[in-house]
Formats: sequence, structure tokens, C-alpha cells
Amino acid sequence: MYILLKNIKKHLNKTVTLKGWIFNYRSSGSIYFLQLRDSTGEIQAIVSKKEVNQKTWEACEKISLESSIEFKGKVYNEKRSPSGTEMLVEDLKIIQIAEEYPIGKKAHGTDFLMDHRHLWVRSKRQAAILKIRDEIIWAIRSFFKKENFILTDSPILTPTSCEGTSTLFATNYFDKKAYLSQSGQLYLEAMIYSLGKVYDFGPTFRAEKSKTRRHLTEFWMMDAEAAFVEHKENMKIQEKLLCYIAEQVLKNCQRELEILERDIKPLEKIKPPFPVITYEQTIKKLQQKGVKIKWGDDFGGDEETIISKMFDKPVFIEKYPGKIKAFYMKPDTKNPDLVLNNDCLAPEGYGEIIGGSQRIDDLKTLEEKIKEFKLPKEPFEWYIDLRRYGSVPHSGFGLGIERTVAWICGLKHIRETIPFPRLINRLNP
Ligand code: 4AD
Ligand code: MG
Repeated sequence: MYILLKNIKKHLNKTVTLKGWIFNYRSSGSIYFLQLRDSTGEIQAIVSKKEVNQKTWEACEKISLESSIEFKGKVYNEKRSPSGTEMLVEDLKIIQIAEEYPIGKKAHGTDFLMDHRHLWVRSKRQAAILKIRDEIIWAIRSFFKKENFILTDSPILTPTSCEGTSTLFATNYFDKKAYLSQSGQLYLEAMIYSLGKVYDFGPTFRAEKSKTRRHLTEFWMMDAEAAFVEHKENMKIQEKLLCYIAEQVLKNCQRELEILERDIKPLEKIKPPFPVITYEQTIKKLQQKGVKIKWGDDFGGDEETIISKMFDKPVFIEKYPGKIKAFYMKPDTKNPDLVLNNDCLAPEGYGEIIGGSQRIDDLKTLEEKIKEFKLPKEPFEWYIDLRRYGSVPHSGFGLGIERTVAWICGLKHIRETIPFPRLINRLNP
């Protein structure tokens, strides 16, 4: 039996066994100070030449960075120790002596760390980010469970595009071509006629040619879709979800947020209502800031950063020109050049984390849009069918997990938000 370091305080002044890895050590001749890490915490283990037998001392002398070790000894509070507790080692077992570890104490460049991502994930900071990622994913799942959405899985291999053909990854599918999914949305739209409110959660792919701090080529998306939900209510669901995510992370990830030195004040402000501004108002705000942009242009990363810094909560931008958005968005009856959509931009300069819209529910309008967007009709026949048999108003949205993690953790770049990031110039490790 061994105990996890998160439970160490329950075992003070008792002899216990610990298992983990050495992330730092030093010696003063007759004493070794060994910093042990497991997946839940860390502790300083003291090996004193006087207190252990010759064999244990000799084993101790072989220990290197990242060696895997089992320690037996008594634990006690020690304010001066970096973790607040210490173990006086009685016995130790070496599981493996590590070779010289490539990630040392000196600062490494990003490329070096990315090449060693399989080792870099062991660092305290990377582990904290990945734990917050886990918390965010569970928050999303429990939110949808509470709200009576049903989890369904959308296919990854698809016959056509959802979000435009310029970022499709094609692959051979026997004697045909298949494309890796850009979003499960179209399939969720089919599922609402069966299950009412649904969501999916899975890997999505975009051949993004741009090298930015916000784009991965493989990322995880949560798409949600609901029958009888219209544009305004769609935004309310998104607002509630983001508030719940922030609340859960603040409640359950205090240690991780501390490790990341995340200022939590901005996260504590994530409460309803979120501001809603139109596309047109956004263009005006940008022009007032001196940005060269005109009605009809899409926002890039720089524009999103400017807008998202104007608010201390996520902001919804609604009603974009239909021409710069995907084919399936429902035109606004008041102005058919606009669509009933929204992007949601995270504050502190993070930019878009959600894209959503009310969908076209009328057969003729959808057929016209597919034509207007020069999409092939045949692979969309099944999707068009949904407007033939009991069509209803419906809406949905997609939240990018990695962008949400970057925002919640306060990270500069998306590459640290996923265990093994895939970027335009990176497929390894
Ligand atoms: O805005 P997007 O393209 O919307 C859709 O795909 C819709 N079909 C979703 C829906 O309505 N069900 O993508 C949704 C979100 C973005 O807001 C962003 O957070 C994330 O997915 N995203 C990316 N994240 C990382 N790297 C990329 N290349 C991303 N592209 C989109
Ligand atoms: Mg978008």
C-alpha cells in the first residue's frame, strides 16, 4: 500500500510508503534532500547517512533527475520545506534510475520544449493546465446533463465540409475521398428530431494555414444543438455554460490556478448577464479605435483582441453579414443580409471561444444558400431532408475546448492546452 501525496496530511507522524519521481535534489555530504513528485503533489524526502543502512545510502547516491523511486519513512510538518511536509526516509527502493534528463533547470526555448512534449508534460505547470482542462470538460458534461441535453457522438470521417472547404483535411476512403470533421453540428441537427436537446464532444480538424497563438489543426469541440430554441435563448444557454465552467474551476482547481499564478479576479466576474453587441456596432467600435475595417469584413485575431479587452466579461457579437459566415445560418427577417448568429469572445484579449447560430429551417432558403455558397448538393441531401420532415426552429453552438482552457488558465499560446498539440508545423511527438 502506498499513499498519494494529496493525502499526506492525514498521515503525519506515521510511517508510510510513497511512489513517484525525483524532480530536484541536492546533497550536503551526509544528507540527501530529494524532492519527490507524484501525480497529486510533492514532498521533500530526507535521507540521512546516519539513519539508513549502507545499501540504502548507496542506492541514494545513484539517484538522478526523474528517477522513479519508492520511499518508506515517517512524515511530519516542516514549514521550511517547499511543500510544507517532509519525510525522513527509512528505506528506499529504486524503480528506475533515469538517464540524464534533457529538460534541466535552465530555461529552454519553445521549440525544444515542444520537441520534448512527452517529457515536458511532467512539469508542474503543464500538469496544472491539464488538470484544469479535465475540470472544464467535466463541467461541460455535468452542465449538459443537468440541462437535460443528451450526449450523442458525431462521426469523424465525413463526406463533406461543415465550415467551408478551405480548411478541410482530406483522406482516402477506399475508392472515395473522406474529410476529417470540422464540427459535428450538421449531425447534431439530425439528432434533435430524435432526442430534442443534444451535444457532442470530440476531436475536430482544420487545415489552418495560419500560424497563430489561437489555432490548432486538431482541437476538441463541444457542439450543442436544441429544437425549438431561437437565437436569443441560444446565447442564454452559452452564457449559463460559461458561468458554470468558471465557477467549477474556481471551486475545484485552486491549487492549479495558484501554480499558474492566474489572477482569479477576472474569473470571479464571469456572472450573467454578458454584454451583447451587434456586428455593426463592433465595426464602429473598431473604427473609433483607428482600426482599418469596413462593414462586410470579418474579424481577425487582432480585432478580436481589441474588442475582448473592452469588456470584463465574455461578450456576444451577433448578427454578422451572412456572406462571411457558414451557409447554414438563418437570415434575420428584419435584414436578410444578416444572420441570427453569435460569436462569443472571452475577455482579457482572448477572443472567440464559441461560434453559434440559429439554423435555416426552411427548405427553399437552405437550397438557395447551398447554391449561393457553391457547395455540392448531393452530399448535403440528407441534411436538406431534415427540412422536409417536421422542420422546426433550432439553434446551437460550438465551444473550442483549447481556447477555453487558454482563457481560464491565462495562457499566452494554445499549444499548452492539449497534451500533444497539432500545429501547422508540428505533428511530433
Ligand atoms: O466558430 P466555429 O467554426 O463554429 C463551428 O464549427 C460551428 N459548426 C459550431 C456549432 O455551431 N455547432 O468553431 C467553434 C469554435 C470556435 O469558436 C473556436 O473556439 C474553436 O471552435 N475553433 C478552434 N480552436 C482551435 N483551433 C482552431 N483552428 C479552431 N477553429 C475553431
Ligand atoms: Mg467561428
